[in-house]
Amino acid sequence: MEELKVPVHLAIIMDGNGRWAKRQGMPRVMGHYRGVEVAEEITEACIELGIEYLTLFAFSTENWTRPREEVETLFELMKTYFKEKRERLIELGVRVKFIGRKGRLPSDLRKIMSDLERETERCGEIQVNLAIDYGGRDDIVRAVKKAISLGIEDVSEESFASLLDLGGIPDPDLMIRTAGERRISNFVLWNLAYTELYFTDLCWPEFTREELLRAVEDFSKRKRKFGRVLDE
Ligand code: FPP
Repeated sequence: MEELKVPVHLAIIMDGNGRWAKRQGMPRVMGHYRGVEVAEEITEACIELGIEYLTLFAFSTENWTRPREEVETLFELMKTYFKEKRERLIELGVRVKFIGRKGRLPSDLRKIMSDLERETERCGEIQVNLAIDYGGRDDIVRAVKKAISLGIEDVSEESFASLLDLGGIPDPDLMIRTAGERRISNFVLWNLAYTELYFTDLCWPEFTREELLRAVEDFSKRKRKFGRVLDE
């Protein structure tokens, strides 16, 4: 059997919570509740596989257009989760980082987020980047503004990348999107330039460790060329 090549950095668009809930005859938010449980389970599986960075798309800059009640429930869910799971995340060795705009989020959620970042700062098993109020184009625009405000007159790909939200960590090797859509949907655009993509029809609440392993096995077989010609 060939050796399993494990991505250093895995990114996931956790799509299909609403559709899954609807199919079960439940309100959409129940899909988000289940979605959080799956996110925890998959984080544990990533640690076991030796994945070093996991970036999860939890709320996009476009998600504000959803019904107010759903947006509020999502934020409430995050607040409860980040408070209740603090001990467990530390025990697992999860360093949590938040990427995105932050400024438009409710202030109590922002406080909980910055506390969690601080409290998990020394955890070293895995770094989980949670994208909340995140958009790939917005990230690039914020990086340009940062460069202007720092008076930077010239940039290279490397120096520019360091100004982005995921600056300083390797680009994702693999991106998984659930629920049958085959799009990047304004996720970490710059960082996904050479990322291998994996799509599954399963909705996020149905995603399992077995499916994660299937995605990693599929990734293992890919020949990554980064624009070069490979010797056969
Ligand atoms: C996509 O399903 C999912 C989201 C917009 C939110 C994902 C958020 C979570 C799983 C909870 C937050 C996570 C953590 C770890 C705190 P959808 O609602 O777009 O589903 P649909 O496409 O079927 O409507």
